[in-house]
Amino acid sequence: MRIDVITLFPEWFSNMRELGVTGRALRDEVVDLRLWNPRDFTNDPHHRVDDRPYGGGPGMVMQAQPLADTLAAVAPGTATVTLLSPQGRRFDQQLANDLAGRDRIVLVCGRYEGVDQRFIDQHIDEQVSIGDFVLSGGELAAAVVMDAVLRQLPGVLGHAQSAVQDSFIDGLLDCPHYTRPEIWQDLQVPATLLSGDHAAIATWRRQQSLLASWKLRPDLLSRAQVSGQLDKQDYELLQAALQTDMTE
Ligand code: ADE
Repeated sequence: MRIDVITLFPEWFSNMRELGVTGRALRDEVVDLRLWNPRDFTNDPHHRVDDRPYGGGPGMVMQAQPLADTLAAVAPGTATVTLLSPQGRRFDQQLANDLAGRDRIVLVCGRYEGVDQRFIDQHIDEQVSIGDFVLSGGELAAAVVMDAVLRQLPGVLGHAQSAVQDSFIDGLLDCPHYTRPEIWQDLQVPATLLSGDHAAIATWRRQQSLLASWKLRPDLLSRAQVSGQLDKQDYELLQAALQTDMTE
């Protein structure tokens, strides 16, 4: 996969190259990350990329010309050009999976108070938001999107099952996880996880996932219900979990 990021702060992404899952994906060349700075493409003799908003008001607006010329150099071809913006469609696991299936992603990071609307109208195919809050720029949002997408790519995560086990992959929250020691501060690891019985462990995990979603994100559970992601066994598991929970 090739990812082009248009950003005034390319250095922002250096940690991603070095660390963790994204670092591994980049080092192993599962993904080809290219960073583009509109400051390198501005026609302004002082390398300006922003100016005051017409009509007045606070802050600065990113100009269309440096962005459009950067995008021309990126040459997205048929790739979707995505602007990270609080106005966008809410980013979720489904969109991460969808992006992970593409050959190329082009991400444009906005800065300051906004981006000249004419650039958006001419060149942006979709806008994506990582939540209903305003960040100082799209870089953090682009990093969030890239992390969620890269962990879906084959060969990026160490253990083949890890991405499949993530929260939201099947529309539900993840189950709890435990590691050594078996007893910590008098607290035991659930017995099923120590049983070596793989079927029982899978059932326990599914049940915990259903229970966590019911308690913490009932909206996810309703959605999974509506989209037919739950079967009869799931309902029975949840029922049983709720009964045990109430008697505890
Ligand atoms: N840029 C500023 N705020 C943002 C948000 N919430 N999501 C994506 N990009 C942004």
